[in-house]
Amino acid sequence: MDALEAITVRTASAIYPVEVASGAARHMAERMAAAGLRPSRVAVICDAAVESSTAAEVDRSLSAAGMAVARIGMQATEDSKTLGTLGDLCERMLADGIDRSGAVVAVGGGVVGDVAGFAAATYMRGIPCVQVPTTLLAMVDAAVGGKTAVNLVRADGTLAKNMVGSFAQPRLVVCDPECLATLPVRELRSGLAECVKHAVIADPAMLAWIRGRIDPILARDPATLAQLVARNVKIKAEVVGADEREDGRRAVLNLGHTFAHAIESLLHGECTHGEAVAIGTVAACRLAGVLGHGSPDHGSAHLESAVRETLSAIGLPAALPAARPAEELLSAMASDKKKRGGALHLVVPFAFGDVRVLGDVPNDAVRAAWRAVGAG
Ligand SMILES: NC(=O)c1ccc[n+]([C@@H]2O[C@H](COP(=O)([O-])OP(=O)(O)OC[C@H]3O[C@@H](n4cnc5c(N)ncnc54)[C@H](O)[C@@H]3O)[C@@H](O)[C@H]2O)c1
Repeated sequence: MDALEAITVRTASAIYPVEVASGAARHMAERMAAAGLRPSRVAVICDAAVESSTAAEVDRSLSAAGMAVARIGMQATEDSKTLGTLGDLCERMLADGIDRSGAVVAVGGGVVGDVAGFAAATYMRGIPCVQVPTTLLAMVDAAVGGKTAVNLVRADGTLAKNMVGSFAQPRLVVCDPECLATLPVRELRSGLAECVKHAVIADPAMLAWIRGRIDPILARDPATLAQLVARNVKIKAEVVGADEREDGRRAVLNLGHTFAHAIESLLHGECTHGEAVAIGTVAACRLAGVLGHGSPDHGSAHLESAVRETLSAIGLPAALPAARPAEELLSAMASDKKKRGGALHLVVPFAFGDVRVLGDVPNDAVRAAWRAVGAG
């Protein structure tokens, strides 16, 4: 295992390490013991895509340390992130003899992390959960911060995302960049969209850092990926540490996401979540400019061009794949769950590090932001 970087997450309810090291998944038993976890039985709930790779390595390490391992594979799609899957997982854990002295180890991307995390939070009123994220998005975002959830299916068959869940912090997160070797490049790029978002929120120098390392990042160089992951985990840890339950500051992590959810709902299947976030982040930058709070040198205009330049270097879109009327996109935003008390809340980056949540943005400004990313 390479040298390990550990970032401590300190929230109101828990303190735990996020460890980043190439090869760490092969040393899971050791990592868990170092975090004070020595369960006799473990449910390794894994994404079918990594069942024979990372999950098998985790299983080998835990079994060699004398733990009884029940490996439970699942398909990682939004359609499988449901109460039905949650019930199936819990019933499998019961059949496999997992009790209150056991633990869940979630091995997969955000889908598996969210549903397995929720299973751990609720099975027998809660057992310890360890997250082993296998997508870049899950390493830099989903696995850190303790949001767990499943989707609900509406009467018309559409999905209401993350409607049932809990805040339940993991006991340990282990990020092994070697897991990303098999991740499709489109998913890798999608994770980079969240890194761009983090740069706008708290680390402007990261944009140039990413632009200077696109080749090793896309070639999955473990050392470069480890640096990237650690740098982003620090940002996420700081934000969730300040506001675990999204009563305030944590909402800045939704930068670009209200735009992204509208894109995802209207252009279903044409964009990954990360691609939609990339386009949404550009729209949010333009919104700041339209609202007039940016100064030409250091404010939103500079920010939008730096974001566009970085997205282009990564190979992420900064415009809609197909033009849609701004009006249609605006109404799709209105159904976003961040709409509270009748007002649409938008995260607006006035400058690097100056990101605010506004509840009274005029529709004309939002239409102009949509037009900046190719809406008609
Ligand atoms: N809890 C949070 O704070 C939080 C934050 C952001 C997103 N999320 C949730 O995360 C989910 C998205 O996560 P994601 O982007 O990781 O998607 P994902 O879990 O759907 O994984 C993306 C794809 O990559 C595959 N995959 C995963 N790891 C792989 C690997 N190492 N090699 C090959 N293929 C691999 C999966 O099977 C899937 O097809 C959404 O459900 C979202 O709601 C949660």
